[in-house]
Amino acid sequence: MVDEKENEMVVTPWEVRGRVDYERLIREFGTQPLTEELRQRIARYTGRLHLQLRRKLFFSHRDLDVILDLYEKGIKFVLYTGRGPSGTVHIGHLVPWIFTKHLQDKFKTRLYFQMTDDEKFVVEDELKLEETKNFAYENALDLIALGFEPENTSIIFDVKDIALLYDIALEVAKRITYSTARATFGFQDSTNIGWIFWPAIQAVPCFLHAKLTGENVPALIPAAIDQDPYWRVTRDIALKLGYYKPAQIHCRFLPGLGKGGKMSASEPETSIFTMDPPEVVKQKIWNAFTGGRATVEEQRKLGGDPNICTIFQYFAYLFEEDDKKLAERERQCRAGEILCGKCKTELTERINKFLAEHQKKREKARNIIEKFYIKR
Ligand code: TRP
Repeated sequence: MVDEKENEMVVTPWEVRGRVDYERLIREFGTQPLTEELRQRIARYTGRLHLQLRRKLFFSHRDLDVILDLYEKGIKFVLYTGRGPSGTVHIGHLVPWIFTKHLQDKFKTRLYFQMTDDEKFVVEDELKLEETKNFAYENALDLIALGFEPENTSIIFDVKDIALLYDIALEVAKRITYSTARATFGFQDSTNIGWIFWPAIQAVPCFLHAKLTGENVPALIPAAIDQDPYWRVTRDIALKLGYYKPAQIHCRFLPGLGKGGKMSASEPETSIFTMDPPEVVKQKIWNAFTGGRATVEEQRKLGGDPNICTIFQYFAYLFEEDDKKLAERERQCRAGEILCGKCKTELTERINKFLAEHQKKREKARNIIEKFYIKR
């Protein structure tokens, strides 16, 4: 029997469950779809659209059009994104970071990156503060390994940098009522009060640039759509504080290697971590859920289904830059001309090549991480 509850869609900043219906999220969250027209506007600045836009991994936004209007008038924006350091980084986490780097390169903007060691400590029952602080440090190495540069990238480690954030956090917190926060985040009587104050801290980097430089500019936040509730409350109070409303560009979740669901660190078998050695990657990919048939004969005759195939999605979202080659892979799969084993082998090779490089850069990042620490 199918358990209805298990299939029910739940998307909150703390939980993503069930089959995610992105159209429905746009309606329920009240965001805007990323239209072809807007994509073309972006392309004016970026040249050929980034793979993640071409393939609609980024699919929704708030005020991206406003950001571009302002940019055309000479008002730059800053980029803001972040990470809740509750464990090691998997390749699903890299997706919006890679896109952020692309935007940063093309628009020549500063990035503020928030490592929320405080959030993960108050929200996750089992984690100690020392652990989330340590993950924050280790996760920052993964970020730096993607090629960000210290000249235009500032990493905020919340616990270490709280003195820098606190005055703005207070201004924000004073203007959000408990009833709004409860309705937005679903707080219960049993929710600890650290968690209840927390959204004020996630709002701060939207406004921090003005404090640091005296330039009041808007922030654009590339992130998965589960973070949207934070921006709803932040947008409500931004103008009252004399700032621009932060704009967003939202991405989908990278699926895990299992059937359905996003890649999640709590399911290590279906997630590829950036520190996984080659044999482990090979094994995980080998066990992945595909759109293949039960037998070779059937697959030759009926073809596979790339739509439901996790392997195909990894090619589409990360590991096949060439649109023609991707389309050809899709055609061959549907026609029964290639079998899952071949796709798995090829994907394993690409991921392992990428990870070998990434792991080297990640180790080197230890020597330069301090240059990324935010300065007052
Ligand atoms: N709350 C986020 C998480 O748990 C971390 C975060 C903080 C973040 N600021 C952000 C994510 C801005 C995206 C954009 O992962």
